[in-house]
Amino acid sequence: MKAKTPKESLTIVTDLILPGETNPLNNLFGGELLARMDKACSIAARRHSSRIVVTASVNHVAFNKSVPVGSVLMVEAKVSRAFKSSMEVYADVWIEDRESGERTKANEAIYTFVAVDRTGMPVKVPQLMPETDLEKTRFEGALRRKQLSLVLSGRMKPEEAHELKALFTG
Ligand SMILES: CC(C)(COP(=O)(O)OP(=O)(O)OC[C@H]1O[C@@H](n2cnc3c(N)ncnc32)[C@H](O)[C@@H]1OP(=O)(O)O)[C@@H](O)C(=O)NCCC(=O)NCCS
Repeated sequence: MKAKTPKESLTIVTDLILPGETNPLNNLFGGELLARMDKACSIAARRHSSRIVVTASVNHVAFNKSVPVGSVLMVEAKVSRAFKSSMEVYADVWIEDRESGERTKANEAIYTFVAVDRTGMPVKVPQLMPETDLEKTRFEGALRRKQLSLVLSGRMKPEEAHELKALFTG
């Protein structure tokens, strides 16, 4: 299976935030943002694997900046590492300024998707070759994040998470 680069999975979803999607402070409701990120990341995982993909876990979400009603929001999703059947996908969320067109980073999240066949069984995916410095940094950290997610979900014993443990033991 031929390895792929992150840019081959790049998915940018641009959308306008409408009043029905906001909280009482007129900012985007968190669940709406999660759904948008999930969709963008699933398209990125599908582009990487050319398979049906399912969300296995949401490993990290940071709601750093509120997104006011009327904002133009961009969710940029890219595969950051591929394992056997699972893929880590980063979502970077940006708000576009109406006058200058400048983008401000609002939020980010990290999802894990698994490629499956038509019966829902996990199948192999192509490996990922990071190119830029940021892609390389995200690639290198992905194994630790996978182990943390597996430990938290009870799928891995903490003592087996060697790369994760190395973070704390130096
Ligand atoms: C995700 C799913 C396919 C995993 O199936 P499984 O039979 O447990 O298969 P495995 O244990 O072989 O796991 C498959 C891969 O997922 C990874 N994985 C599973 N749970 C994970 C988690 N919580 N965090 C990170 N990776 C996870 C495994 O490490 C493995 O990765 P690898 O093949 O790259 O090494 C299965 O649990 C499923 O279908 N879940 C429901 C998905 C869904 O409906 N999503 C929509 C959310 S509402």
